[in-house]
Amino acid sequence: MKDIAVRMTGVPASETLSIAAKVQELKKQGKDVISFTVGEPDFDTPSHIKAAAVEAIEQGFTKYTPGAGIPELRKAVSERIEQDYGLHYDWHQAVVTNGSKQGIYNFFQVVLNPGDEVIIPSPYWVSYPAMVRLAQGKPIFLKTTLKEQFKITPQKLKKAISKRTKIFILNSPSNPTGAFYDPAELEALAEVLEDQNIWILSDDAYAGIVFDGKTFWSIAKYSKKIFQKTFILGTVSKSYAMTGWRVGFVLGPQPKIMEAIEVIQSQSTSGVNSIAQRAALKALTASQDTVKAMVKEFELRRNVALKVISEIPGVRFFTPQGAFYIFADFSSYYGKKYRGQNIKGSIALCEYLLNTGHVALMPGVYFGDDHYLRLSFSLDIQKIETGLERLAQSLKQLE
Ligand SMILES: Cc1ncc(COP(=O)(O)O)c(C=O)c1O
Repeated sequence: MKDIAVRMTGVPASETLSIAAKVQELKKQGKDVISFTVGEPDFDTPSHIKAAAVEAIEQGFTKYTPGAGIPELRKAVSERIEQDYGLHYDWHQAVVTNGSKQGIYNFFQVVLNPGDEVIIPSPYWVSYPAMVRLAQGKPIFLKTTLKEQFKITPQKLKKAISKRTKIFILNSPSNPTGAFYDPAELEALAEVLEDQNIWILSDDAYAGIVFDGKTFWSIAKYSKKIFQKTFILGTVSKSYAMTGWRVGFVLGPQPKIMEAIEVIQSQSTSGVNSIAQRAALKALTASQDTVKAMVKEFELRRNVALKVISEIPGVRFFTPQGAFYIFADFSSYYGKKYRGQNIKGSIALCEYLLNTGHVALMPGVYFGDDHYLRLSFSLDIQKIETGLERLAQSLKQLE
């Protein structure tokens, strides 16, 4: 008898979480590491949100909650989406999940049959392929390049669609690239999808973090047909600096699928932590000023980081228009050596930078492109400058 089920084949542990753990380990050993690896805001959860959680505890709001979430929060989710997106969902069409990660996982579990294909624009968020494989689906990667600003075109999308295509994943703003689709670009993709029998998974984790005066626009707004095909995956993690609270949500117009998502959740994790749900309720219903302030600060940091990176020779990059990552091409350093050690690719370069410069970046290979490194600007400006200076110095030592 084999110990491990077949469905685990080829499913790695989350690489991004394991690198973050390595950095923590070095810091514990007293090493002064500057980490550009974090996938979360460095800001603290705003105090009014924390206060709502304390109040929930003091009121004894500490028991099981319904599998799909407390009705107040489901209503708050649909109202926020109405305000921010201009889309109407009945509150029964919103299910609260343990972070949007569980929402995405549940969605794959309930719609994918073995061998069903999921189109994933690449570079991609690391968890998509793993979660598709866990649901016995088949990831189909749609490569994008820096020249294309990491965005797929309608032509490319059309070509990737087959009889087995079940889901198309859209993630704008994107992790890891910061690519952001304008309404016209989304309309062009929607036109391709309108008459296809394909679900659209709109991963809107970073919808609240958009720069350069742009506003988020949802593909679900394109037409009634597209609305019927789209599932919105949202979260309080990033916009409200609440990654550890684990509250996300799914919104969808298809009752059967939403019910199935609720079933899988009620038979696995049950409803999300009651206290965290009260905190999320506060986050969504209170003034959104803290979000605006955070986005402003992120934009400032992005500009500082880009300015410094642009002075490092041989690095090519793209200006991210949302989220808090820069995805930069460092491949001109591959093949170089340090004390006889060859820098073969993004993992080797990240190891070298961590060991010699005490600066941590995320290898691009984890996101589907080995030429790149991902750099999160979720740290204060002084650290960004010092960290990038160390990065530049370390690169200079390569021969
Ligand atoms: C693109 C994307 N989607 C979804 C998530 C999941 O976030 P959470 O489960 O905290 O809501 C993340 C987290 O890093 C992400 O980057």
